[in-house]
Amino acid sequence: MSFRFPNDFLWGGATAANQIEGAHTIDGKGLSTSDVQPFGSFGELKSRKEGDFNIKDIAIDFYHRYPQDIALFAELGFTCFRLSIAWSRIFPKGDEQEPNELGLAYYDKIFNELEKYGIVPIVTLSHYEMPLYLAEQYQGWKSRELIGFFERYARTVFARYGNSVKHWLTFNEINISLHEPFTGAGIPRGSDAQSLYQGMHHQLVASAKAVKACHELLPDAKIGNMMLGAIQYPYTCHPDDIFAAMQENRDWLFFGDVQCRGYYPSYMARKFKELGVKLDISEADKETLKETVDFVSFSYYMTGCVSTHQEVEILDKKALKMGSNPYLKTTDWGWQIDPKGLRIVLNLLYDRYQKPLFIVENGLGAVDKPNEKGEIEDDYRIAYLNDHLYQVGEALQDGVEVMGYTCWGPIDLVSASTAQMSKRYGLIYVDSDDQGKGSLVRKRKKSFYWYQDLIKSQGENL
Ligand code: BG6
Repeated sequence: MSFRFPNDFLWGGATAANQIEGAHTIDGKGLSTSDVQPFGSFGELKSRKEGDFNIKDIAIDFYHRYPQDIALFAELGFTCFRLSIAWSRIFPKGDEQEPNELGLAYYDKIFNELEKYGIVPIVTLSHYEMPLYLAEQYQGWKSRELIGFFERYARTVFARYGNSVKHWLTFNEINISLHEPFTGAGIPRGSDAQSLYQGMHHQLVASAKAVKACHELLPDAKIGNMMLGAIQYPYTCHPDDIFAAMQENRDWLFFGDVQCRGYYPSYMARKFKELGVKLDISEADKETLKETVDFVSFSYYMTGCVSTHQEVEILDKKALKMGSNPYLKTTDWGWQIDPKGLRIVLNLLYDRYQKPLFIVENGLGAVDKPNEKGEIEDDYRIAYLNDHLYQVGEALQDGVEVMGYTCWGPIDLVSASTAQMSKRYGLIYVDSDDQGKGSLVRKRKKSFYWYQDLIKSQGENL
């Protein structure tokens, strides 16, 4: 491509606290919902007993190794790095009045280290975890009380880190609560639609409260939402399929509609009626929701197909139930690879919201096998990233405003859905296996050098 990405385009990588940090009870951290999901969000929940092992207890030990890892990000040329704060480090149970100073001090060190290299932090307030106590005592976001706890947490971290952090995200993939209620919202699995939508309403209100607090406390900062941008195509051109795909996409766009427009879209009234859902939405809630996000962020991994009359093979049966597309290949984990779909999502979101967009996750989970020299030649990952970023360049030329791109897991980390280490996304290899055994030594993969060149050339060589 002869096209160069804009000079202020943010380039980097994205992570989540529970997938990299380890140190799950160090410095006063409370247990989080992730700590009772040793097999990942697709696996069984397991309450913890003394001596139980969960690979996330160590993860990649970023908690202690962050100086070395951030130095590698700087070597890659990152201009930004997305990470999440573990809520349970700051408020170990979630409903305390006062934060845990040791937890706060830990992230001070991270932000100082990033600042050393001029890397802009992009911080998610809640990424697939919350204090376990809130899930056990309050049934998670089913309880309205969580809005106040979350607001206190958000205000605490805005006040503490506001000088260093100018980009915030509220809930990671907020729409996941619909499919994985415990992971997304601490709500018991198998809960009925009424509980789910009421819980998600509380999250939407809490998200808007965080936006308001950010605007008040940090007028020079920007705060965005975060959605799982898994678009569904109609399997055929039959009008029923077109409509079915539109409805499926509304399941995730609904969240963006509320967070960007400040009110519930009219199409939800019928959906709630059909589901027998009666939401408790107060006048104060309606007022709060008017505080809309500054930008829209999303993850993008795959697309799917839906049909009302033709049999479509369902690829991922556990969460999103994406239907297969005969024109696309899949990853080893059955995720459909669709670079053009990223351009479609970017155009769709920009048409719908006219707010700047940020691609905060995208990448290929694959098994990496070191060759006889111990090097990882991950040409498949380079091809995946290249093809997706090419489409981002196209979208920019379509007129879409894109703030930046952070590849998922620039350093190998624990998979959220399966808790595997062998599902690797990294440009940097970490020596650890699915049992958490290994030296944890870091090694640059071939994709490391490719990504470095990508940033240096502002995407000109895609
Ligand atoms: C996103 C999540 O859904 O996908 C990440 O925000 C997750 O936390 C990523 O790791 C990839 O999924 P997985 O299951 O391959 O780790």
